[in-house]
Amino acid sequence: MPELAVIPGDGIGREVVPAAVEVLRAVIPGLETVEADAGWDCFQRTGTSVPQETLETIRACGAGLFGAVSSPSRKVEGYQSAVLTLRQELDLYSNIRPVRSLPVISPRDGVNMIIVRENTEGLYSRIERIENNRAVAERVITRQASTRIAIRAVSLAAQLGRRKLTIVHKANVLPVSDGLFRDCVLDVARTAIEAGQDLEVDELLVDVAALKMVAEPERFDVVVTTNLFGDILSDAASYWGGGLGTAPSLNWGEKYAVAEPVHGSAPDIAGQGIANPIAAVLSGAMLARFVWADADAADRIEGAVEMLLREENYAVELASSTSAIRDRLLALLVTE
Ligand code: IPM
Ligand code: MN
Repeated sequence: MPELAVIPGDGIGREVVPAAVEVLRAVIPGLETVEADAGWDCFQRTGTSVPQETLETIRACGAGLFGAVSSPSRKVEGYQSAVLTLRQELDLYSNIRPVRSLPVISPRDGVNMIIVRENTEGLYSRIERIENNRAVAERVITRQASTRIAIRAVSLAAQLGRRKLTIVHKANVLPVSDGLFRDCVLDVARTAIEAGQDLEVDELLVDVAALKMVAEPERFDVVVTTNLFGDILSDAASYWGGGLGTAPSLNWGEKYAVAEPVHGSAPDIAGQGIANPIAAVLSGAMLARFVWADADAADRIEGAVEMLLREENYAVELASSTSAIRDRLLALLVTE
């Protein structure tokens, strides 16, 4: 039976994660869960945003569902964002962020892309220093990380029957670093195509990609890109899937995976029971599909979400209540 480390974190994470766990349990009745602590609140209580015990719990389970954490935007001595720590400590090297049109709430039909974001380096190297009044941040691109994110993107395309891969980079300005990234992805794609995979590959500079994500989002299928570009583009693209309230993600390494809604801890609405749990619910479905290889469970959850969104009372009654959405999803999963 799958085991899951449940890490609600801060703010609305504490509301949406329990709802998502209940939905997961409805389709995977034997799911075993263990709660674990992380985040800003945890830092203030214990002096660390991710206790060793939390890492051990995730390692023991193999998978985690993480809510959200609050972070100060100024440097606080000893504090580091919990989600970044998890990615680094557990080597969660890819971040899979699907964006697809959902019934009723999407501003447009026909969008169905997966952004595969490198999740360990780039501008997230966190190597920053002040040199004589020059603040320098190192943007690190390695052959090893670029190759493994490329393998993840290409094999994900094969697994899901997707046939187009777009490499997003800024090699016109950063020919050495983004040139290396692009070349590593092209190498992996070429090898896969030679081995028989049906895959078309193109590349876009990130600024052009941003415009196309706004103007013609249907052109994208699988997108592979570096860390910060993936961070920014995935927030922008989530608009087509109904916004951050419904955008799921999966931080996925070799041994471990942590699913996480793309949204943050939303302190402005925390504690009111009005947070939309759909992003967390769909993140749970990603664990089922990719980590536990239970496509049926994932399809059932995604199907229930689509049914819910089509219901007439969704916008008026359900959308503003975490527990109402949870209960309706549970009811739909029982009666399907
Ligand atoms: C995300 C978030 C994180 C990131 C923050 C919270 C550090 O925005 O998961 O996209 O920048 O990666
Ligand atoms: Mn982000």
